[in-house]
Amino acid sequence: MNNQLRDVIFSGIVSVRDRLLQLDSPLRLESGEPSFDTPKHIKEAMAKALVDNHTHYAASTGIKPLKEAILKKITEKNKISYIDGLDKIVVTNGGMHALYCTFQTILNAGDEVIIPQPNWTATGWMIELAGGKLVKVKLKPELAYRWDMSELESKITDRTTAILINSPHNPTGGVMTKDDYKALLAIAEKHDLYVVSDEAYEDIIYDQEHVSLGEVASDFSKKVQDKIITAFTFSKSFAMTGWRVGYTVCSSDDFADNMKKMILYSINGVSTPSQYGAIAALEGPQDCVTDMVKIYKERRDILFEGVNKTQFLTCETPPGGAFYLYAKITDAWDKSAWDLVNYLIDTYSMGSVPGDIFYDDEPSIRFSYACETSMIQKAIENLNRSS
Ligand SMILES: Cc1ncc(COP(=O)(O)O)c(C=O)c1O
Repeated sequence: MNNQLRDVIFSGIVSVRDRLLQLDSPLRLESGEPSFDTPKHIKEAMAKALVDNHTHYAASTGIKPLKEAILKKITEKNKISYIDGLDKIVVTNGGMHALYCTFQTILNAGDEVIIPQPNWTATGWMIELAGGKLVKVKLKPELAYRWDMSELESKITDRTTAILINSPHNPTGGVMTKDDYKALLAIAEKHDLYVVSDEAYEDIIYDQEHVSLGEVASDFSKKVQDKIITAFTFSKSFAMTGWRVGYTVCSSDDFADNMKKMILYSINGVSTPSQYGAIAALEGPQDCVTDMVKIYKERRDILFEGVNKTQFLTCETPPGGAFYLYAKITDAWDKSAWDLVNYLIDTYSMGSVPGDIFYDDEPSIRFSYACETSMIQKAIENLNRSS
């Protein structure tokens, strides 16, 4: 058996979910699964693809019409101006696979990767599985969960190879600004680093527009642009988690060539009918996305207000994006974050995730508001009853 895999542990989110699934009517605030179904026109496009016999092997890095739709989307919507051809787009089996293949492609054993603290657990393991070493730099609650860039730069060593960013951010909902991106790219340029930008939640954002790192990078040199890999997914924007379609964009020929090997020898291409559904997602009406985001925002507001009324929890600013609320556990709770998570499962059949899972060393807890609004309302009643 692979020794490296023996050291990998299953995410604590899995253990919380497994326990909740044994209960009657659990409140699913642990999961990043949208409560919405995939919009009808996307499902119809996939059904049509099946009827039209698009059921065969296709080009391993993605079918041409999907790549064309992606190129249009990243140029017009994300304002990434420097991607000059379809070969720079690689369609992957969801955002996770995009990130997994990216780290396998760019890292060598012992390379250091700067990641946010807290950070979504999965990317941490992907980096380690690719031989990388995690260097954590704290996101500051007082900066609405953004980095202090000078602190980040102080963590760079001879071994630093890449920086991972994720905006909007899981688990905190923090959103990076254009100025953050400019400062980050200047650091990347100075130290010749890769920047992997996980933009899985690009559409789940409130009170502001998502800015892609690639938009800001358009003003930098080709050398800097070639080391930026942006990972996108259809999962969250279009409630398509089960379809498994994502993609990377990067202007480097070298990256495209090596990424293609990763795809070829792992999946040899994403399910062809799913890719036809993804075309409809990009080319079809976008009001389905804005409608979902409107509801996420209502849920965010209910949760934010309710959590701050709870004696043992506090959250300084409403999350700017994604569908997670990250709260600090106050001294009014004198046990650990895991104890609180277990208490909420045992007492109220309510899911949550402790900050420990996200490499946080301060007592904190994440609630997801991707679930039904009624679950969030019930969860708040429960929390306030416990205070
Ligand atoms: C931060 C982040 N990135 C990427 C993903 C990838 O999602 P998927 O593999 O469903 O596209 C997720 C999913 O939860 C996520 O939270």
